[in-house]
Amino acid sequence: MSMRTRPARVSCAALAGCLALTAARLLGSPALAHTAGILDPMAFDTTDGRQIYAHVCRGCHMPDAGGAVGAGHYPALAKNPALASRQYMALTILAGRRNMPAFGARHALGDGGPAMMLNEVQIAAVTNYVRSHFGNHYKDRITAAEVHALDSTSP
Ligand code: HEC
Repeated sequence: MSMRTRPARVSCAALAGCLALTAARLLGSPALAHTAGILDPMAFDTTDGRQIYAHVCRGCHMPDAGGAVGAGHYPALAKNPALASRQYMALTILAGRRNMPAFGARHALGDGGPAMMLNEVQIAAVTNYVRSHFGNHYKDRITAAEVHALDSTSP
């Protein structure tokens, strides 16, 4: 009887999160992402909050923004009282928060090079989109200038 070791398999309970990260890594190489047909890098020129959510956030926070619990904990953004502060939300996207990756260039690059970056216009757009959808009804909006100010004052 032969003893064969199975190749180690990376377990990925929070599959969606892993997929998002994989896609994010691939995006580092636009040509690769393009050939792989995973994501059209051009899509990230979009300043449409809904599209940014779909491409960047949905993998972890789920299509209904209901969050997920698996290998990690991905908080719901739907009906989330923490989103009352537009600055808190924008800063989370800019600088990351524990297991949430940073998407602002300054922080993302400091982390040793992920992934994917969003500019200030995109961060404002996705913040405003999430805060006015998924059962969130916050009326105030954040501007790209305010995101810029937050970025320059954040540690
Ligand atoms: C790779 C997975 C992942 C991606 C992609 C991701 N997030 Fe998160 N997010 C997390 C995790 C994990 C947390 C919880 C962080 C913590 O421990 O406080 C979080 C927390 C947050 C919070 C704070 C919620 C609260 O109740 O305090 C907001 C807001 C948020 N994410 C928005 C977004 C937006 C908008 C996007 C897309 C631009 C996004 N996230 C993309 C994983 C992700």
